[in-house]
Amino acid sequence: MTTTNVAYKQEKIFSAAIRVFHWLRALSIVALVATGFYIAWPYVIGADSTDVLVQGWIRFGHLIFGFTLCAITGSRAYLFFFSKSDIERRSFKDVMSPKSWLAQIKSYLWMGHLDKAGVYGPLQFMTYFAVSVLAAFMCITGLVLYANVYHQGLGGALWSTASWITEAMGGLAMVRIWHHDITWCFIIFLVIHIYMAVWYGIRFKHNAVDAIVSGYDYHPEKN
Ligand code: HEM
Repeated sequence: MTTTNVAYKQEKIFSAAIRVFHWLRALSIVALVATGFYIAWPYVIGADSTDVLVQGWIRFGHLIFGFTLCAITGSRAYLFFFSKSDIERRSFKDVMSPKSWLAQIKSYLWMGHLDKAGVYGPLQFMTYFAVSVLAAFMCITGLVLYANVYHQGLGGALWSTASWITEAMGGLAMVRIWHHDITWCFIIFLVIHIYMAVWYGIRFKHNAVDAIVSGYDYHPEKN
């Protein structure tokens, strides 16, 4: 049996803040999808006692994770523009280059590699950008629904803006339908995202899943 020694290089790519926000966002989205669909269709039949507030607890959980997602969506947008490391911002160069788009699509078909300017390829960057816009949309429509349920405190403070958005979207029923339907985008994204993250590490020996845990990309010297 022969063994080959491949030298690996260690490169720091994700800061602690980016890693913590990634996993908090993942947890929030999974919890929001589960509790959100439960709110839409409360399938657990309550016990005879009126003290059992299953729906209330599920809604409470939805709001906890909802406000967590609002905070992360804002902080993550701030970090994209102002973090010390420009590894994410540099990816924008590839987004603006048709050559990089072609190189990335070809590399997915096993034809060559893309030498990325930053940490993401153009297709990956645009997908994450779209997901961030959808997360912001869910936060806004979620807060509009919240203001319609809780009329005091934050709900009261948001009331006039929430009414304006409700009217612009064609009424409260439409806000609810959009908030419900866009939920499916997160389910579709999650499945593709996990598949691509695993596949990418195997195919390119770069930016494997462990990078978003440790922050380090371990890849062969020559890669
Ligand atoms: C990825 C993010 C989110 C997902 C997938 C999600 C999903 C859902 C779903 C499926 C429903 C049920 C809609 C229906 O009645 O058919 C719902 C309701 C609701 N969501 Fe979200 N949501 C998200 C984010 C948020 C955020 C950020 C907030 C606010 C902070 C929020 C607040 C609410 C409220 C107040 C309701 C209505 C509860 C009720 O009818 O009593 N959601 N959500």
